[in-house]
Amino acid sequence: MNHFELGDGEHGGPELYCEDTPLAKIAEAVGTPVYVYSSATLERHFTVLRDALVAAGLKDPLVAFAVKANPNVAVLRTLAKAGAGADVVSEGEVRRALAAGVPPERIVFSGVGKSEAEIAFALQAGVAEINLESEPELRLVDAVAERLGKRATVAIRVNPDVEAGGHAKISTGKAENKFGVSLAEAERLYAQASNMAGVRPVGVACHIGSQITDLAPLEAAFRKMRALVERLRAEGLSVERLDLGGGLGAPYFNAPTPPAPADYAAMIARVMAGLPTIQFAFEPGRMIAANAGVLVARVQHVHARPEGRKFLVLDAAMNDLLRPAMYDAYHDIRPVRPREGEPQPYDVVGPICETGDTFTRDRLLPPLEAGDLVAFMTAGAYGAAMSSEYNSRLLVPEVLVKGADYAVVRPRPTYDDMLARERSAPWL
Ligand code: LLP
Repeated sequence: MNHFELGDGEHGGPELYCEDTPLAKIAEAVGTPVYVYSSATLERHFTVLRDALVAAGLKDPLVAFAVKANPNVAVLRTLAKAGAGADVVSEGEVRRALAAGVPPERIVFSGVGKSEAEIAFALQAGVAEINLESEPELRLVDAVAERLGKRATVAIRVNPDVEAGGHAKISTGKAENKFGVSLAEAERLYAQASNMAGVRPVGVACHIGSQITDLAPLEAAFRKMRALVERLRAEGLSVERLDLGGGLGAPYFNAPTPPAPADYAAMIARVMAGLPTIQFAFEPGRMIAANAGVLVARVQHVHARPEGRKFLVLDAAMNDLLRPAMYDAYHDIRPVRPREGEPQPYDVVGPICETGDTFTRDRLLPPLEAGDLVAFMTAGAYGAAMSSEYNSRLLVPEVLVKGADYAVVRPRPTYDDMLARERSAPWL
């Protein structure tokens, strides 16, 4: 469920709202393209997941929002206030989580290539857990922690060798992917880490992919993780936390509907039944943020070729929303003020000078005219997060809505801002 619905418009017809705020009002005031997020949807998705986990009997689960999905500090603050932690993969993300008021004891630091400086920063900040992805990383964290006179709380990230995820570029849990260590390696590293002065292993972690719409691969991975916990404990090692990652899909309105949080939670409770006390951690990104955001764009031109194709040229481009170009991702496109009339097939494109700047082809949409607004749905995760200034287009702004109020939480920079970041070279 999300809070982007048609309501009565001031122009006399229906129009798309975010909560109690018309998207057209925001587009008028802030300009387009613009990302718009719903506080109520963010809070709801977080709460539904957390409550489902608790209802299934998981005690005090840590739900750490994957900051990479939407790193906007106001978005993170909204989730932090609802009780979320943060799953981070860089010093920048640690800093964002802290700036948003996420307590360090709710921050989990993942990622295959953390630098020495990043590890030191995370240790100084007191993050809850550093997920180690390899033996060299274990040695590095041990050394950095010892140098700082600290003992790093760590988990070993396991690659359970399970195929999952909607697209090859976002699947992470197969042995051939760069993430984590094998189950056997994890056992060896855990024992090794227990004897090191700079680290204290508290658990094991896995994350097998993103946009997963079937519980079966998750269940297969979680069964392997449970067995690993039991083997470690049988060796006399203490395992306090089991981090099951993120990956649960969001509905994109064209693909299979992902499992409900309650079914996900029930599956976990079933797989983990009888496992003595352990804290579960989760790293959801997409299922919380995707349907909490839209990208609003304006139609620049409707370019109808005499031989038939009709191009809808928008003022948003692949630099603002990369997912269609990068993953062939589907995003529902809805007119903000739908006109009456038969749907027609449009190729929806942006103004960037490459063919990849095509959001979709032959999409059936209600009639649209130059100047109309459209909303790309399900754009709150990996939307603004992956935006860039390609073609020297200004970074897309972000707006957070709460009821009938809204705030510009990342303003559109000016061209002067953009140029001021650069320097000349002394010989020029
Ligand atoms: N934890 C780890 C260690 C991850 O690598 C990821 C995502 C997550 C959690 C969150 O996964 P989620 O719950 O959002 O599926 N840019 C791609 C998605 C890349 C996901 C990378 N890892 C896209 O736009 O589809």
